[in-house]
Amino acid sequence: MERKDTDKLSFVLSNAAECTVLLKKSGQFPLDKPGRIAAYGAGLRYTIKGGTGSGEVNSKETFTIEQGLERAGFIIASKNWLDAYDEVRKQAKKQFFKELKAQAKAKHENAIMYSMGKTMKEPDHDIEITKVCDTAVYVVSRNSGEGSDREVLEGDVKLSKSEIRDILLLNKIYDRFMLVLNVGGVVDLSPVMEVKDILLLSQLGTDCGAILADILLGKQNPSGKLTTTWAEFKEYSAEGTFGDWNDNRYKEGIYVGYRYFDTFKKTALFPFGFGLSYTTFETKVSDVKANKDTLTCEVLVKNTGSCSGKEVVQVYLSVPEDKLDQPYQQLVCYAKTPLLERNAECRLEMSFRLSDFASYDEESESYVLEKGRYVIRVGNSSVDTKIAAAAILEETVTTLKTRNCLGKPDFTDIKSEHSEPLPIPEGIVIFTLTADDFEKREVFFDNEVSVDSRIKNLTDEELSYMQIGNFDPNAKGLSIIGNAATHLAGAAGETTSQLVNKGIRPLIMADGPAGIRISLKYYEEGENQYDAGNKGMMPESMLEMMGPVTAFIAKLIVGGKKIPRNAVIKEHSATMIPIGTAIAQSFNTELAEALGDIVGEEMEKFGVHLWLAPALNIHRSILCGRNFEYYSEDPLVSGEVAAAITRGVQKHKRCGTTIKHYAANNAETNRYCNNSQVSERAMREIYLRGFDICIRKSQPKAVMTSYNLLNGIHTSEHRGLIEDVLRGEFGFKGIVMTDWVMTIMTSSKSKYRNALSDEVAKAGGELFMPGTKKDYERVLKALKDGTLSRKQLEINASRLIRTIDEFYAD
Ligand code: BGC
Repeated sequence: MERKDTDKLSFVLSNAAECTVLLKKSGQFPLDKPGRIAAYGAGLRYTIKGGTGSGEVNSKETFTIEQGLERAGFIIASKNWLDAYDEVRKQAKKQFFKELKAQAKAKHENAIMYSMGKTMKEPDHDIEITKVCDTAVYVVSRNSGEGSDREVLEGDVKLSKSEIRDILLLNKIYDRFMLVLNVGGVVDLSPVMEVKDILLLSQLGTDCGAILADILLGKQNPSGKLTTTWAEFKEYSAEGTFGDWNDNRYKEGIYVGYRYFDTFKKTALFPFGFGLSYTTFETKVSDVKANKDTLTCEVLVKNTGSCSGKEVVQVYLSVPEDKLDQPYQQLVCYAKTPLLERNAECRLEMSFRLSDFASYDEESESYVLEKGRYVIRVGNSSVDTKIAAAAILEETVTTLKTRNCLGKPDFTDIKSEHSEPLPIPEGIVIFTLTADDFEKREVFFDNEVSVDSRIKNLTDEELSYMQIGNFDPNAKGLSIIGNAATHLAGAAGETTSQLVNKGIRPLIMADGPAGIRISLKYYEEGENQYDAGNKGMMPESMLEMMGPVTAFIAKLIVGGKKIPRNAVIKEHSATMIPIGTAIAQSFNTELAEALGDIVGEEMEKFGVHLWLAPALNIHRSILCGRNFEYYSEDPLVSGEVAAAITRGVQKHKRCGTTIKHYAANNAETNRYCNNSQVSERAMREIYLRGFDICIRKSQPKAVMTSYNLLNGIHTSEHRGLIEDVLRGEFGFKGIVMTDWVMTIMTSSKSKYRNALSDEVAKAGGELFMPGTKKDYERVLKALKDGTLSRKQLEINASRLIRTIDEFYAD
């Protein structure tokens, strides 16, 4: 039975503290009851529910943190400060848009495109703070979104001078003070490390304040762990390049996130996997078993503190170094306890297969486990573990023979220094494994694909339609990014409706990942739906940049229609769920699946077939503007969360996920034409592994390629990525679509061109999105010229029709 919207929202709200991370605690919180509270910071009234861009979900009602606290019974004793800050903010915003316009002009860029994803730096001010009661909070907010990366500037990655001054003062003058972070990515907290209570609230959707109130009052206990290392900015690896307009060189290779920090002995402020709780836990490994190459750790967790809570247990593996250099350790499995009352205990069983963590050897073009000693550590963060067992592999094992197919960067990856293995403490169980303990896997490349009989009879024109999104040959304006669907207002796109008379029905696609992105207001005309308000048509940030007049004109030129006089305006909205990073921070796959289930339920209700989420790119740099949509710097976490959400969504009939952006899409600067240069090994061990895990565990219905190039070839035109790796190696059975290619959005100053529809078709991608007449003509021309074979188009169309059939099957 379909749940009520209020039930779905209350499920999100009552579980959201699992997504928050308690970074520091003094014992002064939780509070006994709500009362007077001094609340400061931009986050109070300018709360960020989630970032900007296609990941921004339009919810009917959103509350600020100020409202949330008040609704929970708190009396805000610092209204004067908040009012004064409003004025500072208003002026700063005016200035911000003025500067953006000037910058765009100086760079000869279109101001609206230039502004995409750019967010204002937190302004400095001199509003005075005095002590007005016993308890205070300061909420730091940061926003970002697709189109732009973050900057190492005050008010963005760095705290502003005013923030530092006020936070340190509050920490000094208030008896109880909590620093709260309403952010989607890392902020360098090094100047305020003396603060005794710090909560990473994150961005949780509709009512962040209600969740904060619950946490302040101990009604919910934070139980999230960091999925990305939080450090002083200068500590992050500067080996590779980030933010270059044309080429970004991933020279750091496999040393991403904690793999870099641990191996190169860097210190984090808060390490990967770290998070406190109002209570405390004791963790003891009670047993480790080996069954062939599957190792199972049995762990007892006891709540030793004063209130109920949940703990996350993490298992790390250190791989021996023989021919290949290795990171100090990698996460191989994790589990979360149920809610444990005081003194309660539980037993967790966690398993992993050694072969799933094989290294990629470029020389032999295969995945290998090198001979030597494998060490298993168990703990509750990457820096707080104990050795639980070891396994000796007597000979090097090839777990999968494949072929190099991802191209070559113009450098070689950095290597770590070979380190002597640490001694194994006495009494630790040691297993011995041989090659017989490993399953033999094989890859079958270039499998014959059977062509559907319905496809055989299609004309070249009709076949070309299938390759392009829902392009209407009679349409006047352009389809707009993120809003190219006609059956559901505000949905991102569709497959063709031109062949409905041939029994080929369209698939409707809507964005995520923080819920379903659709227009709030709409009207209907026959089977079609149109947006009836600016909200939902474009990311709010871009509309804000345009101002009301330009926004209105933009709506006309991008194909929006004038709302008919007699139109009946209706409203609908979807439930917001926490941003991707926050969901991952819960380290709770059941919760992730339940959130996917909510999305699936609403997809059924709105008639969405494909959700354009989850997004599981790696947090390679804390500067990526879309990190909030993504899960982690670790591929296991990314893959597990994406798989859990996919299972939740795909429980629902006619609903599928589209995992994105495949692959190495780790920056937003010149995103349409940026070339990620990455080694075959780093691609396979870091950037592709999450996709592999998700596909193996949940078989999502679709994959969206990324805008960027990989080693000089657009990922959407990359046969190695699509056919060899995705289909051949990972066993992906669904359809592959491009990200929303829009020529007008592309900078003319790029070294590389945009992705092209005929090249995408040649590479085995089924859909060029969102689809324009030009893209269609290009495919048709290539077909006529003979540069694109009809056979390839027939294969692409057959795969698409097979997926469409699955959606429409009774
Ligand atoms: C984004 C995708 C999104 C698509 C459709 C693109 O700009 O990169 O993540 O799914 O638009 O809205």
